[in-house]
Amino acid sequence: MKIIMLGAPGAGKGTQAKKIAGRYRIPHISTGDIFRANIKGGTELGMKAKAYMDQGQLVPDDVTIGMLLDRISEPDCADGYVLDGFPRTIPQAESLKAALEKRGEKMDYAIDVDVPDEAIVTRMGGRRACVSCGATYHIVFNPTKQEGICDACGEKLVLRDDDKPETVQNRLGVYHDQTQPLIEYYRNEGILRTVDGTKDLNEVFEDIINVLGA
Ligand code: AP5
Ligand code: MG
Repeated sequence: MKIIMLGAPGAGKGTQAKKIAGRYRIPHISTGDIFRANIKGGTELGMKAKAYMDQGQLVPDDVTIGMLLDRISEPDCADGYVLDGFPRTIPQAESLKAALEKRGEKMDYAIDVDVPDEAIVTRMGGRRACVSCGATYHIVFNPTKQEGICDACGEKLVLRDDDKPETVQNRLGVYHDQTQPLIEYYRNEGILRTVDGTKDLNEVFEDIINVLGA
């Protein structure tokens, strides 16, 4: 199964993508996590990406598309994957479609996790993220067992650099301009499914499972 997670920054794409990946035993591929791992590792890609991410801007398509297409060509992607944070622009969606068509493949679902902007700003300040394994928590809505420590891998949690309120506003603006048009794009492709992302995170997951029908 090949799934795209759509939704504003902080809508819960990462939270739900991890659950989907666990249930369907497919890799969770987050372009944001790949960039953050590269920043942590001090790679050239990471340095390039950091400047854009810190401003809440998108990393240019010429960097992002090749990176993602390489990742989905790896052997663990043979039975599907869940994409989190890609595509984010129409050119990214077109490149993905063209690359899959060449292999006689297509995406199965694009799930839009729908959350209004007001709810997003409240969520971001409380988010804590693990830079090591990509797990995401919330100090109120999804706390860890031990404060500040990742349940999954035991690493320290951080407040992401781009979760400052001003940067969150920029990211929302970029989302509405460049990413939201993908909702219409995938509606036209016939694979769009929308879930109400304001519900409790386990209820959102139930709704997604119903959409995926398994
Ligand atoms: P990325 O890492 O993808 O960030 P984002 O899209 O801004 O999304 P987030 O990770 O902030 O939110 P999320 O939807 O995953 O929410 P989460 O599950 O954590 O990208 C970062 C940057 O990288 C971009 O700004 C860009 O610069 C660059 N980039 C990445 N991909 C790119 C691309 N394709 N092209 C160009 N540039 C790219 O949840 C948020 C919080 O809410 C958490 O604390 C969580 O615990 C909590 N929560 C989740 N669900 C619920 C719920 N139902 N109720 C209450 N709380 C909840
Ligand atoms: Mg995320």
